[in-house]
Amino acid sequence: MCGIVGYVGRQQPNGKPLEVVMEGLRRLEYRGYDSAGVALVGRDGVLVTAKKAGKLVNLADELDARPLPGATAAIGHTRWATHGAPTDVNAHPHVAGKIAVIHNGIVENFAVLKAELLADGATFLSETDTEVVAQLLARAYARLGDLSEAMCAVAQRLEGTFTLLAVHADVPDVVVGARHDSPLVVGLGDGENFMGSDVAAFIAHTRRALELGQDQVVTLTPDSVTVTDFTGAPAQGRAFTVDWDAAAAEKGGYRSFMDKEIDDQPQAVADTLLGRTGLDGALVLDEVRIDESLLRSIDKIVVIACGTAAYAGHVAKYAIEHWCRIPVEVELAHEFRYRDPVVNEKTLVVAISQSGETMDTLMAVRHAREQGSKVLAIVNTHGSTIPRESDAVLYTHAGPEIAVASTKAFLSQITAAYLLGLYLAQLRGNKFPDEIAELLGQLRAMPAKIQTVLDGAEHVREVARSMRDTPSVLFLGRHVGFPVALEGALKLKELAYIHAEGFAAGELKHGPIALIEEGQAVFVIVPSPRGRDSLHSKVISNIQEIRARGAHTLVIAEEGDDAVLPFADEVFRIPQCPTLMSPLLAVVPLQLFACELATAKGLDVDQPRNLAKSVTVE
Ligand code: G6P
Repeated sequence: MCGIVGYVGRQQPNGKPLEVVMEGLRRLEYRGYDSAGVALVGRDGVLVTAKKAGKLVNLADELDARPLPGATAAIGHTRWATHGAPTDVNAHPHVAGKIAVIHNGIVENFAVLKAELLADGATFLSETDTEVVAQLLARAYARLGDLSEAMCAVAQRLEGTFTLLAVHADVPDVVVGARHDSPLVVGLGDGENFMGSDVAAFIAHTRRALELGQDQVVTLTPDSVTVTDFTGAPAQGRAFTVDWDAAAAEKGGYRSFMDKEIDDQPQAVADTLLGRTGLDGALVLDEVRIDESLLRSIDKIVVIACGTAAYAGHVAKYAIEHWCRIPVEVELAHEFRYRDPVVNEKTLVVAISQSGETMDTLMAVRHAREQGSKVLAIVNTHGSTIPRESDAVLYTHAGPEIAVASTKAFLSQITAAYLLGLYLAQLRGNKFPDEIAELLGQLRAMPAKIQTVLDGAEHVREVARSMRDTPSVLFLGRHVGFPVALEGALKLKELAYIHAEGFAAGELKHGPIALIEEGQAVFVIVPSPRGRDSLHSKVISNIQEIRARGAHTLVIAEEGDDAVLPFADEVFRIPQCPTLMSPLLAVVPLQLFACELATAKGLDVDQPRNLAKSVTVE
């Protein structure tokens, strides 16, 4: 939800600030792509801006046509509109006098503040809440004569959520940022410093970073980084080193980030498993800093998450309940805190989030902690807010996920949640060490099996291309195949903008079967014939039932499962594996299908319409 970049460096070469900011915006464009803009300040005390509606390429064209002068400091913004339509005028930065401001978030009391400013004679060009902030800052600067102090004064007056960056023409060596419930990370350079919504903004320049706390103001010059709270009292950031490299955030020859990230999945799962066992082979989760006796005494786990991360939690529920015999509830984070959930000190709340910034999830984390629950976060992005506000964190090591719709994060979230389940089973004595070792062995075998599914991608792609005009696809799954069906439907909605719905296969006869008519496409995820009781044969019956009513059946089934052959129009094979491991395989053809079908329709799979990768508003 809006990407923010800031840069300040010594003057040579003075084209660098714009370059850094544009490159940062390119890497952050997944956060929002309604419009983009930059502001530059040079030593001659001149402030210039450029901004354009639409994707970043429009701004780049504008800068080619109308080059800006050299600078020492620059800020840049890529927008996901909240206040005001995505037009040139509403694009950030917003200028008031000699100040330019960019903003991520929503200023909830902006109407009151705007009325006050109008009464004071201010005029506004845009409909945004951000321009109100620019005007407030200009007035505070005129009063206080210091940009950081002005930022503190304004930050104290704002309600809602915000990350703000500002530059002032009179102080060309300074960029000031502030954050409240919205992301901001500092990159530490040599004679230059950076700010970004996440580390991807500056990863090409430095891997040394500083995590900021809540309600902090940070002032960058080429040689210093000063952090305070909103009253101006000194505060500290937490230094960390980014373990991604710039290449990981590039397309690397793929036609889209999504194609690359689907292919990255064996590595993402392998990396998430790496280094999690001690010398004796027992599972060691160093990051889980919650008291062991407390973990032994919990009587319930509640998973909170949104979107794809919630489906990862839904998969994990089956495994954790089976391994640990603890009840697991999975709750959409935005529903959780508004329904007065029953959680307490005996509940372990597990927050799953790729970005670590999803506002709905963050608010649910806070609510859970207020009720006395311990919160463990499963997160991919270092330096983000959710791990900082949780009691413990288990990082997934999927590397940067740039495509807006999640793929490799999903697999690595399931993997990390499984590690947590096994860790609890070990700690609570639900499983013997040899059983844990066997299950870990099954997990470690998965990257090679995922690769096998990817090796067969062309068949899925062919089918997807042939179905580019399909108006609707249904997805059926049972047991762990059910959340996989939900995720398959979500991918297709997000990427291809067609009607797609996932159902529990057992529910078919209770309603969804009414949707089946001649030619209706239905994916069916078939459980292993070696799995639980009679689930396999029940799902085979479901395929027969829908086929008899005219459905076009697309079946995902294990190698060697020939029972599906008489009823499948298409069969996509996955390697044999234990039931609980199968989501890591069965979802891959569904990702490939959605990605290819959307590409065949000429759609941008990395930046689907109306979506943003990191949703930092409620
Ligand atoms: C957005 C994205 C989804 C993602 C969800 C949760 O809606 O478009 O792809 O699954 O947020 O994001 P998180 O970063 O918390 O995993």
